[in-house]
Amino acid sequence: MSSKSKAQSPKLPFVLVNLAMTADAKIATANRAVHSFGSARDRAHLYELRATADAVMCGARTVEISRSILGTGGGKFRKQRLKHGLAEYNLRVIVSGSGSLDPDTEIFKNHFSPIIVLTTERVPPKKLIQLRRLAGEVKICGKTEINFPTALRWLRTKWGVKRLLCEGGGELNAALFRAGLVDEINLTLCPKIFGGRTAPTMADGLGIPRLAEATDFNITSIRRFDGELFTVFSRRI
Ligand SMILES: NC(=O)c1ccc[n+]([C@@H]2O[C@H](COP(=O)([O-])OP(=O)(O)OC[C@H]3O[C@@H](n4cnc5c(N)ncnc54)[C@H](OP(=O)(O)O)[C@@H]3O)[C@@H](O)[C@H]2O)c1
Repeated sequence: MSSKSKAQSPKLPFVLVNLAMTADAKIATANRAVHSFGSARDRAHLYELRATADAVMCGARTVEISRSILGTGGGKFRKQRLKHGLAEYNLRVIVSGSGSLDPDTEIFKNHFSPIIVLTTERVPPKKLIQLRRLAGEVKICGKTEINFPTALRWLRTKWGVKRLLCEGGGELNAALFRAGLVDEINLTLCPKIFGGRTAPTMADGLGIPRLAEATDFNITSIRRFDGELFTVFSRRI
């Protein structure tokens, strides 16, 4: 899907990606042990962005490793949501194409808003039953690969998702970039070096073979706080 075709698809949500990245372009250490390394300002920024979104989405590994419940961040941010005309709590979306998502993941112990799992026909029947017990809805969106344009259109029509915040990880982000669905990147650049050729980056997966297939963005904002750079990239149309 090209940038133009997304612009012509009013039924798709506006998609923002948010992440913190080291100066050597890593979003976690190679052993995945360090995944939170931004400042308190960066954490507040994450909650501020969540307060503008109908739903927050993550890949299976990110919700498992980070133990994030994808919550609002507290009463202050819930008030901001209401001011923006949004529901008090954001919807939570987890992507797990094979259904390997761990049922003991922290997010399933917190019931403040519906959890939606996007998966494929690869999910084993027993696992599907288990996930259906845990989540508000489990949606099969493709045979072996998730068809993200279809999935996002469904999120908009069925669940009213107009703004979708994707919080990684690298594999999920890559699929969204490849499908031409990302409208904005909020990238916090942190002055650290992790190294490690297998450490995750903003967009992993297979990558593109030709420059012509790159997704182009404009840098639309750069601000410096406490030694970090808060940047915004907007899709070039
Ligand atoms: N610094 C930051 O801001 C930041 C933000 C987010 C994450 N992280 C870090 O990034 C790491 C996780 O990244 P990751 O790339 O390994 O994992 P990820 O994208 O969070 O999750 C990967 C899993 O999600 C599912 N998935 C993702 N894309 C899919 C697709 N196109 N189709 C079907 N299923 C898909 C698959 O689940 P199944 O295996 O169940 O099919 C896949 O194994 C963690 O270390 C995390 O802490 C850092």
